[in-house]
Amino acid sequence: MDKTFHIVTFGCQMNVGDSDWLARALVSRGWRQVPEEDAWLFVVNTCSVRDKPEQKVYSELGRLAAFGRGKPGLTAAVGGCVAQQIGRGFFERFPFVRLVFGSDGIAGAPDALDQLAEDARARIALLDFLGTYPEREDVLTLSTKTPEPAFDVDAGEPEAVPDGHSAQAFVNIMQGCDNFCAYCIVPYTRGRQKSRSAEAVLAECRIRVEQGAREITLLGQNVNSYGLDAGGTGVGFAELLRRVAALPGLLRLRFTTSHPKDIDPAVIRAFGELENLCPALHLPLQAGSDEVLRRMGRKYDRARYLGIVEALRQARPDIALTTDLIVGFPGETEDDFAQTLEMMERVRFESSFSFRYSDRPGVASLRMSPKVPDEIGQERLLRLQSLQNVITKESLKALEGCEADVLLEAPSRRQDEGAQFWRGRDPGGRVVNVRMSGPRLPGAGGDAEASGLALCGRMVRARIVEAKNHSLLGEEVAPPW
Ligand code: SAH
Ligand code: SF4
Ligand code: F3S
Repeated sequence: MDKTFHIVTFGCQMNVGDSDWLARALVSRGWRQVPEEDAWLFVVNTCSVRDKPEQKVYSELGRLAAFGRGKPGLTAAVGGCVAQQIGRGFFERFPFVRLVFGSDGIAGAPDALDQLAEDARARIALLDFLGTYPEREDVLTLSTKTPEPAFDVDAGEPEAVPDGHSAQAFVNIMQGCDNFCAYCIVPYTRGRQKSRSAEAVLAECRIRVEQGAREITLLGQNVNSYGLDAGGTGVGFAELLRRVAALPGLLRLRFTTSHPKDIDPAVIRAFGELENLCPALHLPLQAGSDEVLRRMGRKYDRARYLGIVEALRQARPDIALTTDLIVGFPGETEDDFAQTLEMMERVRFESSFSFRYSDRPGVASLRMSPKVPDEIGQERLLRLQSLQNVITKESLKALEGCEADVLLEAPSRRQDEGAQFWRGRDPGGRVVNVRMSGPRLPGAGGDAEASGLALCGRMVRARIVEAKNHSLLGEEVAPPW
């Protein structure tokens, strides 16, 4: 049997990181990553944060079942938060699912998949939570791309090569969450908070920088409480930031997500002190009314949130703040909702993710009432999003004529005759499409791979010439350095 696989990923950055790790681990065991139509094994890495992403998993598996009708050996593995939630239930509902694994169980997934490939009747569930951060096999130096066969195929399996072209790296610093916000399923699907050791975090960051990463984002469900669980080794989040920021060659450092209740004054000060810590913070507000925040169990109120915003802007006046908001939490009145709009006006978030409240199994808000009718929830969501669009547009407009350092990520979809456009981000995290000076490089706009090698990960200085609805248009003012 040819060991070929294809991975589909839903959900947050942690799932993206998990899928990336799994792909590397499989390639290191001789598996090949191939397009869907050629794969023997399908891995679906799932998200359960709202009902919609959960439903997507079932429709994806239904689609696979239809697609695999003519393929008797169809085999799938389901990982991530819905796998943790539904567990072995997948075996009954979709008989071709032969492995389920949760966020701690993923460490054992590569061995389990090897076993499935050998034993056509095997079915495996890896759903236990571990007591400490589950360090995984180190596969960082391996590419997720299956290498081209060597010219002399008889010389043995070609070695995996480092892909190393990614200018951005995401590094996990913890797993799970202890907050149990009333609406949230994450503590049930990802388990208790477990911090990763500072040494392991630093070692991974160092390797990433050596492989060409210019920007690192530290990831966790609540990074501000890093180190405060049993797995902590005495290093808190502010200290971790300092140590990572000091790595030679690291141009930009970001982190997500921050819970307002735990943000340490030392982290706020770090925005004014660490040169490579980007002036950008995602600080989920969730709701603008004190009463709703209390029922959500968020443990801060409007005044405390506004105090944090003020302190952040004192430390770093150009800081770009973004947020998450939920509308239609059980019991939310029109007046409560008006206070969310008002907070949006006061803070003037650069952008936000806003969601219609969704009942999740087992969470505290499931039993809270009255539920907000769907039409009202939808209408509030639209009002919130149109206010955000206006604020986003105005804040982008204010940057016209300014200059910014842009870290290039990929050739832009926008391409003009004679010029080359690259997509990147400014320090605040805004997307900037930059018109590059100099001649058009071969491959730009067409062969992303060729031009990717040319400029990906470069920092350029750009003048912002126009604000679009959700991004900026810039012109390079100095050659890349
Ligand atoms: N750990 C992060 C967020 C994780 S979930 C934090 O605490 O900020 C990402 C976002 O999904 C949340 O910020 C919240 O806005 C949204 N969300 C979570 N549960 C939800 C639910 N039941 N209904 C609607 N939105 C939800
Ligand atoms: Fe969910 Fe709250 Fe934990 Fe974020 S902090 S993951 S919203 S329980
Ligand atoms: Fe979704 Fe799980 Fe992430 S529920 S948002 S994949 S932690």
